[in-house]
Amino acid sequence: MSSEKAVTGLVSASVSPIADAEPVLHVQDLRLALYTGQEEVFPVDGVSFTINPGETLCLVGESGSGKSLTALTIMRLIELEASVRYEGRVLFAERDVLTLSQSEMNSLRGSEVAMVPQEPMSALNPVVKIGRQLEQVGIYHAKDRTSRRQVRQEFHKRSRDALVAVGIRDVDRVLSSYPHQLSGGMQQRILIAMAVIAEPKLIIADEPTTALDVTTQAQILVLLAELQKRTGVGLLLITHDLAVAAQVADRVAVMYAGSIVEQAPVEEFFANPQHPYSVGLLNSVPSIEGGKNQDRLNAIPGSVPSLLALPRGCRFAPRCVLAVDKCQSERPDLRAIQSTQTHLAACWRPGEMP
Ligand SMILES: Nc1ncnc2c1ncn2[C@@H]1O[C@H](COP(=O)(O)OP(=O)(O)OP(=O)(O)O)[C@@H](O)[C@H]1O
Ligand SMILES: [Mg+2]
Repeated sequence: MSSEKAVTGLVSASVSPIADAEPVLHVQDLRLALYTGQEEVFPVDGVSFTINPGETLCLVGESGSGKSLTALTIMRLIELEASVRYEGRVLFAERDVLTLSQSEMNSLRGSEVAMVPQEPMSALNPVVKIGRQLEQVGIYHAKDRTSRRQVRQEFHKRSRDALVAVGIRDVDRVLSSYPHQLSGGMQQRILIAMAVIAEPKLIIADEPTTALDVTTQAQILVLLAELQKRTGVGLLLITHDLAVAAQVADRVAVMYAGSIVEQAPVEEFFANPQHPYSVGLLNSVPSIEGGKNQDRLNAIPGSVPSLLALPRGCRFAPRCVLAVDKCQSERPDLRAIQSTQTHLAACWRPGEMP
């Protein structure tokens, strides 16, 4: 299947979110505080969003903006040491993930929420063969079923199908391999297959297709869209690729220096971006003929500020061509623009960027 075809298929396969349903994930004022030895920094600083069943929220933003740490905090995958603290709420099926015990969290992760992390190796057990790790997903899944034997057979078939669907041809070799015997791209595919097999309520995928070729990437996005259509899984997809966001997102959230600076339904976001940073990102999308080095979004002059030296006002002000005094001194909140309820921007001069 060509990538164009796959992506076109994806558009028709995508499912509209169930508007009135309870959100599958509700993140409220999430902060992650790290004590660096000198002072406390907040790499995730007041992040709020919801994901409805069947909905895809794409979180975009430059390298270092806090996307992965947001995902890892939601999944409670950051070790809570003396130097780390959470604030806010992460409501998943009415439970606040931030208050669950480690064992409650482990069972949630095994069955109801799946994560495809940016570093796939960190999620695979290095001393257990892939086949066995896939079976463990199946065991979780079989917990509330009556016939375990039937479940096991079904599961066996489903895991093979899932591995083929993520573009793995030599399934037997992969099943009998240890993670370190496989490439990073292969490990990523396996984690995506695991997420698909588990049929969770929520998948958090951090750059899940970055290491993969375009055809496989398109194939995987179709697979996720099909899963969504079938099971209504909510998807938080972190990507630096705005073309991917345009294809799969229902809503887009743009992150900058630890906070969301704009959030909007996908068509609205691409047609009518409000925050100067979003406009900068959209202008930095690489052209199709572009060289290899264009695959990171860093065409906006300047860089993400250090967490140890954040600007007092708007964190984007030092890089913003529209910045006025107020932008330097007062930090804008994320709020609805114009008459909409769904398009939010944290900017004193929204929509003024040409
Ligand atoms: N364990 C850590 N301790 C201290 N700071 C960290 C830690 N991990 C990440 N950071 C910092 O937190 C900020 C956010 O990092 P994060 O990995 O979430 O960015 P990102 O948006 O996922 O970037 P990328 O697109 O490169 O994956 C960065 O400034 C990073 O240097
Ligand atoms: Mg990251």
